[in-house]
Amino acid sequence: MKVAFFDTKPYDTPSFEKFGKENKITFKFYETKLNEDTAALAKGCEAVCVFVNDTVNAAVIDKLAALGVKILALRCAGYNNVDIKYAKGKLRVVSVPAYSPYAVAEHAMALLLTSIRRVHKAFIRTRDHNFSLNGLTGFDLHGKTVGVVGTGKIGRIFINICRGFGMNVIAYDKFPAKDSDIEYVELDELFSRSDIISFHCPLTDETYHMIDEKSIEKLKKGVVIVNTSRGALIDAEALLEGIKARKIGAACLDVYEEEANVFFQDFSGHIIADDTLARLISMPNVIVTSHQAFLTEEALSNIAETTVSNLIACHKGEECANELHI
Ligand code: NAI
Repeated sequence: MKVAFFDTKPYDTPSFEKFGKENKITFKFYETKLNEDTAALAKGCEAVCVFVNDTVNAAVIDKLAALGVKILALRCAGYNNVDIKYAKGKLRVVSVPAYSPYAVAEHAMALLLTSIRRVHKAFIRTRDHNFSLNGLTGFDLHGKTVGVVGTGKIGRIFINICRGFGMNVIAYDKFPAKDSDIEYVELDELFSRSDIISFHCPLTDETYHMIDEKSIEKLKKGVVIVNTSRGALIDAEALLEGIKARKIGAACLDVYEEEANVFFQDFSGHIIADDTLARLISMPNVIVTSHQAFLTEEALSNIAETTVSNLIACHKGEECANELHI
């Protein structure tokens, strides 16, 4: 079985080569992203394997289907970049719903701690032999209220981590968990009560720009926003204005609305065309990582193992528990 693998990065190949070899699957690794112009590279392949910023719209699906591609294997959990409805009857679409929810939840806490204890500033200072503490005052997490939006696999782990810090946890979920001791509140109440808000829900029409000019008005002054979910949950320009107005105390972003053409690439030495991103990065109270929350050894191995078993199930015409139906 041949699989065209798009948007390949050096950290992807070892685990996919290992599990591929064990299961007689040949991956053709392409650095380019999948889009209408590159779909032709899948010629001769039964499947394509894509990541979060590949484009799988109707036109791409038609091109892949015309080439004889039968399977679209997402090596990630989110699938907002795929037109699942349109793919129905043309491609079987499978994903990796969970590979290490710990990786993402732990990264969210890493960003939060770095931000509020100014570790990113201290690291640079001491490397320059500047041992002054001026401007590095943080605040305790203990006793603070964290609002968690989305209490699925990652959200729940993040909640447990926060409880370990002695924080009060409130949450909002469209489908609250019935078997939990989580204090669910309406979104507006979460906005007005939270000292910290962390997003762990998928990007849908409903969650698009959940943080915008209007909702920012409802936030507590000085709130810290953490987003390790999907960039478009937040209107980045409104966020920037909220930070400039001192309403938002800090932002920790692993995802960004317009990340597709920037993240995962080395632009050092270049001028970034995206003014909003450049301005956000320049803020002392904004930390941006480039969609890195998933990136642990455990997660990479689980992603490859699950993707390979998804491919095998589809190849054999068997049912696949990780198939996406809409
Ligand atoms: P999950 O499916 O286990 O949980 C998502 C939760 O969001 C569910 O409880 C669901 O009921 C809730 N939800 C759905 N619609 C909602 C709405 N309108 N408002 C509020 N809550 C809503 O997903 P999981 O594994 O916890 O992942 C969460 C998100 O994290 C993914 O959708 C993905 O976008 C993101 N992610 C980011 C990664 C990164 O590297 N930064 C890696 C993996 C996932």
